[in-house]
Amino acid sequence: MSRYAHITGWGMAAPTRVLTNDDLAQLVDTDDEWIISRTGIRERRIARADETTATLATDAAIKALEMAKLQPEMINLIIVSTSSPEHIFPATACLVQDRIGAVNAGAFDLSAACSGFIFAVNMATQAIRSGAIRNALVIGSETLSRLINWEDRNTCILFGDGAGAFVLQASDLPGGLLSAVMRSDGSGGDSLSVPAGGSKLPASLDTVSKGLHYIQMNGREVFRFATRVMAHASQEAAELAQLKMTDINLIVPHQANARIIEAAARSLNYPMEQVVVNVDRYGNTSTASIPIAICEAVQSGRLHAGDKIVLVGFGAGLTWGAAVVHWTGPYPSKRRVRPKSLRLWAKMRSFLRKLVRQIEGKIWKDYF
Ligand code: ACO
Repeated sequence: MSRYAHITGWGMAAPTRVLTNDDLAQLVDTDDEWIISRTGIRERRIARADETTATLATDAAIKALEMAKLQPEMINLIIVSTSSPEHIFPATACLVQDRIGAVNAGAFDLSAACSGFIFAVNMATQAIRSGAIRNALVIGSETLSRLINWEDRNTCILFGDGAGAFVLQASDLPGGLLSAVMRSDGSGGDSLSVPAGGSKLPASLDTVSKGLHYIQMNGREVFRFATRVMAHASQEAAELAQLKMTDINLIVPHQANARIIEAAARSLNYPMEQVVVNVDRYGNTSTASIPIAICEAVQSGRLHAGDKIVLVGFGAGLTWGAAVVHWTGPYPSKRRVRPKSLRLWAKMRSFLRKLVRQIEGKIWKDYF
């Protein structure tokens, strides 16, 4: 049984379409100065019609596999954390499984809003530590732009689309996720919700006309909750890992609002120079925000092998959580993953399986 789950691959995907604060000022009564001063957001990425939660998740996953030099058939578990799944079912994780050809993986979605990536990494780590699996793919992916009322200035300025992915692999060497804190408080569920489209309020003309399929938010309440829990959860995760905050090289918080991040850093008495902030360029990409921030931190040379980092997030549910990660980086390997051929093989395999299913259907029809 392996004692550790290392993060050996990571990747991100962001739509190329940029929506600036000035663009938003054409849609609702707002302005660049208000948005920057209240949130720190300057622009966000918005998915094109042909980009979905699954396509962004697949793009991020393939980059993470390429980095880890791990063939998709070696993956045992895929968790897609999302609040904007492609469908109620099938799970977005199954669509990704098919598109990358992860033929030996179980795949499911996890719904814990913006805290979801931390929850999913923890679940995958525990599965690896238990000895049940060796390799996992964890993805946070969102197209929240599809759930936004573009006439509601309280919410439409905040969110953006994107995806980030980690490959986790079993190891006996110390490293990877050292501790995790997961918390929920369902009594605050109505602070941030999409009321319709589930079993309580199935889609109907009435729900659509009342705009109940859009994100509804009590911004002030969420703000108060977030500033209360971020510092506490970070501290708790550090203590569980038997570390002090002064041992932490970098904090990678959920990117919801620069003011919330600054308030958390202040409560922890932690220097802002060691906090990753990219909310200005992506807005709030919900569960994708932490892995996207990590990918950028590695790329810009802020995060190195050997560093100890805190991931901390909060979101709808209400949910919140934090984790301490000992960053190790990819395993040395001579294997290569070629994204183009990977996509092609997965597509051919999927086509053949559909064909076999059709032929089977015809044979069975002739028998019965
Ligand atoms: N442009 C201009 N004015 C605005 C806008 C806007 N886009 N939005 C609201 N206002 C107005 C309000 O109507 C209000 O006017 P009033 O005083 O006349 O009523 C005034 O600005 C102040 O509104 P507040 O809500 O008090 O503004 P606040 O400083 O709290 O900022 C914000 C609002 C940015 C939404 C903030 O509360 C926030 O960031 N909350 C947290 C939200 C969050 O993180 N949500 C995501 C959680 S993660 C997840 O699970 C998806």
